[in-house]
Amino acid sequence: MNTDLVKARPSAANTAVPDDAALAGLLATRTYAEVQDITGLSKGAIYRAALRTGARKTESRIAQRAAERRQQQLDFLRSIVDSTAKADVLDFLAAIPDDSVQVHMTSPPYNLGKRYGNAAGADALAMTYFHGWLMQVISELARTTRPGGVVCLNVGKTSDDHGGLYPLDVMLFDDLRRAGLTFQSRVVWVQPHGLTPARRLADRYETILVFSKGPVPTFNPNAARQPQKQPGKRAYKGPNKGELSGHPLGAWPTDVWSDIPTVRANHRDRVHGDHPAQFPVRLAKRVILLYSLPGDLICDVFVGSGSTAVAAIEAGRSFTGADLFYEDLRAARLSAATPDRVSPLDGVTDESLAVWQAEARRVDHRSAPLAKGAEAAQCADLFDTAGAA
Ligand SMILES: C[S@@+](CC[C@H](N)C(=O)[O-])C[C@H]1O[C@@H](n2cnc3c(N)ncnc32)[C@H](O)[C@@H]1O
Repeated sequence: MNTDLVKARPSAANTAVPDDAALAGLLATRTYAEVQDITGLSKGAIYRAALRTGARKTESRIAQRAAERRQQQLDFLRSIVDSTAKADVLDFLAAIPDDSVQVHMTSPPYNLGKRYGNAAGADALAMTYFHGWLMQVISELARTTRPGGVVCLNVGKTSDDHGGLYPLDVMLFDDLRRAGLTFQSRVVWVQPHGLTPARRLADRYETILVFSKGPVPTFNPNAARQPQKQPGKRAYKGPNKGELSGHPLGAWPTDVWSDIPTVRANHRDRVHGDHPAQFPVRLAKRVILLYSLPGDLICDVFVGSGSTAVAAIEAGRSFTGADLFYEDLRAARLSAATPDRVSPLDGVTDESLAVWQAEARRVDHRSAPLAKGAEAAQCADLFDTAGAA
């Protein structure tokens, strides 16, 4: 018989679970294995007791550092909400607390040699290094996303070390899953214009990979409904026979978006100062409206010219983000952005609101104080409790 095993099991004499003080005493002079032998407790239980009692200097220091780091992250987040940082993506993400962002909407560099901020070489890494860097970014995006929130990556193609093309959504799909995220959609963003290569099909779409943290993300389909193909179609049988059969706000949104033009020379989003790879505000806004609610935090860790931040302001969401460059461009753009006026009423325009405001009259309404008896009677009436007692 293995005598070590027999020894490790608690004997009848020592089955009483020692309290924290007793465990702390044991831990002061013995190893975990020895304390396990003596008490029969699992290593996890002993470790947790060590943390609670501060019996091990290292563990309590680690716990204290973790608490300090979380506090620093919260302070940083408070200071950066509704603004963007000039920072490296990984430094920025390290300063953001766990589970804090509702929507990460971003488009990373594609490593195709673009001169961001006029810096040569930054967008021309060896492919393995580029992939490893994006894996770190994805892991941090997953950590900082709130349960029910989403990570949305707009990507095209990158180039391998021999000049061959490599679709970034193919490269990053499994990385997103390995980071613990759940696949929701792969949106095809149709781009009718672009370069025409000599000996292969022209690239006419990019994708947006949508992954959620946890199985059920916030989802507001009305934000992206498309006009019905046959708006006048009516049910021809069943209880609704003769009624309009389509949803009045449009058809259920699909994963093909062909109504959002790219930002070209004459596009209204084109910003002064020429960012080389802007995406349109409308693209970010559709994502934001689909996957968040007013007030939620939106983050773009490669915020560039600030398109995602502008979309968040217009949609009434909080935002943050980072980029190594373009802070002046963003400052100008963000200071000009205003929240959309939202009205569920047809025909409400800036003009009609102005007329109503001009014609509005102040009404002073003074209600008489309610007597105690009358209040009791009103409550009884309201909650139907008369006679219940
Ligand atoms: C594809 S662009 C994003 C453009 C943005 N969506 C817009 O509409 O303006 C990628 C951005 O990543 C930024 N970038 C590159 N390396 C970075 C890094 N290490 N940390 C932070 N930003 C970086 C570039 O400056 C560039 O603005």
